[in-house]
Amino acid sequence: MHTILANQNHLDLNSMKELPESHAWLSQDHDSPISNASLGLDPVPVINLNNPNAMKLVGHACKTWGLFQVTNHGVPAHLLQEMEDAGRKLFTLPIQQKLQAARAPNGVSGYGVARISSFFPKLMWSEGFTIVGSPYEHARKLWPNCYSRFCDVVEEYKKEMNKLAQRLMLLILGSLGVTMDEVNWACLQGSSAALQLNSYPSCPDPDRAMGLAAHTDSTLITILHQNNTSGLQAHKEGTGWVTVPPIHRALVVNVGDLLHILSNGLYSSVLHRAMVNRTQHRFSVAYLYGPPSNVQISPLSKLIDKVHPPLYRPVTWSEYLGAKAKHFNKALSSVRLCA
Ligand code: SIN
Ligand code: FE2
Repeated sequence: MHTILANQNHLDLNSMKELPESHAWLSQDHDSPISNASLGLDPVPVINLNNPNAMKLVGHACKTWGLFQVTNHGVPAHLLQEMEDAGRKLFTLPIQQKLQAARAPNGVSGYGVARISSFFPKLMWSEGFTIVGSPYEHARKLWPNCYSRFCDVVEEYKKEMNKLAQRLMLLILGSLGVTMDEVNWACLQGSSAALQLNSYPSCPDPDRAMGLAAHTDSTLITILHQNNTSGLQAHKEGTGWVTVPPIHRALVVNVGDLLHILSNGLYSSVLHRAMVNRTQHRFSVAYLYGPPSNVQISPLSKLIDKVHPPLYRPVTWSEYLGAKAKHFNKALSSVRLCA
């Protein structure tokens, strides 16, 4: 792990006119993104959840991309806008005020640099705010007298995301040929889900900066709302990095490592990253959905037979996060059973 000077951790990116050395990535650290045009007939799947074939389409997208966008997802448009506005309001606070709600050194909740920063020699051009459980404690530090609106929006957003995540999980399980009575459904419900707000200020030297470095999520699934600004890229086997274009009101869904384990590797967790740009301030909100922290996830028994032995050992979300903190993008291999 790399040690990062505390003062570099708290640079106010919003006011920087030049890219500091601490944030300058070598150009070979990011291969050039592939434009959507060059993708031709193979764009990132967009699935209308009202389509009678949604289950099949979701399964195909999980298998071939590990990522897709959904429309007609049922999350009210006004709530998406309110969540985006709440994030914007938070990140445009003066840095000293944001630091009132700074994440504790070994903590998860609160304001700070990308949580994966310790795995990289350079800092990322982004700031984050992580909400696990209730947002009240940190929101009170940010807005001592007027935190309730922010908290109400967050709570409402989490409720709607939870509903959507459950709907998506049912489609995903269905696409694997597994019915609800063949799984312990209660164990797959996201009672410990978290919300990650990300801010990527406009950057004076975007070609040498990295918004969020390549990673897979440790979730079952992640549901991402990006404002109308490009930046998210997914890595597709055999193609390379592909931009996931923002589509008004659509949400991005990606397969996380726990779903990779649950599906015994049939659905691959997707490597993704966020790039920055010179003129626009980008925001995103990720809903990180996983099982209750003490429930073990293992390959679904329906998918296991003599020809298809289990590839991963059972792990709880907490154990897996421990493996991720130690092995980062090699965490999946660290829980793989020997063939
Ligand atoms: C994330 O991976 O958590 C966020 C990606 C994005 O901002 O697009
Ligand atoms: Fe992510």
